[in-house]
Amino acid sequence: MSEFDGKSVLITGGGSGIGLATARRLLDAGARVAIAGRDTDRLEAAAKELDAGERVIAVRADVASTADVDVLIGEIQSKFGSLDGVFANAGVGLNARTADITEADFDQVVGTNFKGAFFTVQKALPILNDGGSIVFNASWLVHRGMGMGSLYAASKAAVLNLARTLAPDLADRGIRVNTVTPGHIKTEMFDAVTGNDQVREFFRGQVAIGRLGDPTDIADAVLYLLSSRSSYITGQELVVDGGLVGSVPN
Ligand SMILES: NC(=O)c1ccc[n+]([C@@H]2O[C@H](COP(=O)([O-])OP(=O)(O)OC[C@H]3O[C@@H](n4cnc5c(N)ncnc54)[C@H](OP(=O)(O)O)[C@@H]3O)[C@@H](O)[C@H]2O)c1
Repeated sequence: MSEFDGKSVLITGGGSGIGLATARRLLDAGARVAIAGRDTDRLEAAAKELDAGERVIAVRADVASTADVDVLIGEIQSKFGSLDGVFANAGVGLNARTADITEADFDQVVGTNFKGAFFTVQKALPILNDGGSIVFNASWLVHRGMGMGSLYAASKAAVLNLARTLAPDLADRGIRVNTVTPGHIKTEMFDAVTGNDQVREFFRGQVAIGRLGDPTDIADAVLYLLSSRSSYITGQELVVDGGLVGSVPN
C-alpha cells in the first residue's frame, strides 16, 4: 500500500514549478490531487502530463478571489468528497524598489500570496478531515533582506506567521500546519525574477551546496510535512535552500 492511498490533497499553483512537482510526487504515492491556478491552458496541460485519470482534477481559480476559492472547494467536495491535505503554494513574485511599487502591485502580490493563502485554507477547513495537514509556501526572503524584495518578502512573512498561529488554532481537530521555505528553485518564477543568466549565476553562488534547487527538492519536503511521518511537527518551518539562509558563501 502506498503512503497516500485514499488521501486527497489540494495544491494551489499546481499547474507549474513546485506545485506541479508536488502533484506528481503525491500521485506517485497514491494520492488524489486537485490542482488550481488561473490559466486554464496551463492547468489542462499539467493534468494531461500528470496522466492520472480521475485521481487528478484541475480547477481554474484565482486564489485572490474568494468567489473563485468557493468554486474550487465546491468542485473538490463534489469530486473527492473531502481533503486530507492542503498545499497553499500559489504565489507571484515582484522584483522592484519600494519607491516604484504601485497599489496595483500591492493588491496583486498581497492578494495572491497572503489573502489567497489565508482564504484557501479557511475555506478548505469545512472539508478538511480531522488529522489533516496544511503546508504553506514561504520564501528564503523571510530571513534575508533584499533591496528589490520588500513587498514580496513581507507577504511571505505574513504566511509564515499565519502558519505558526494556525497550528494551535487547529490543533483540537488534529490538523497540523507547517511552512516550507524554499531557497532558489529553478522554476518559471525564478527565471522571470532573475531575468538573465548572470543574475542566476550570482544567486547560485550564494548557495552553500553550489546548485540551484529543483522543484522536486521542495516537493519531497512537502510530502514529508503532509505525511504521518511528521505527525509530531506543527507550527514549524522547514527551510529547503541548500544552505542559502544559514551560510556565508565560500
Ligand atoms: N522558485 C523559487 O525560487 C521560489 C523561492 C521561494 C518561494 N517560492 C514560492 O513557490 C511558490 C511556487 O512558485 P514556483 O517557483 O513554482 O513558480 P511558478 O512555476 O511560477 O508557480 C506559481 C504558480 O502559482 C500560480 N498562481 C499565481 N498567481 C495565482 C493566483 N492568483 N491564483 C491561483 N494561482 C496562481 C501560477 O499559475 P497561474 O499563472 O496559472 O495562475 C503558477 O502555477 C510561490 O508561492 C513562490 O513564491 C519560489
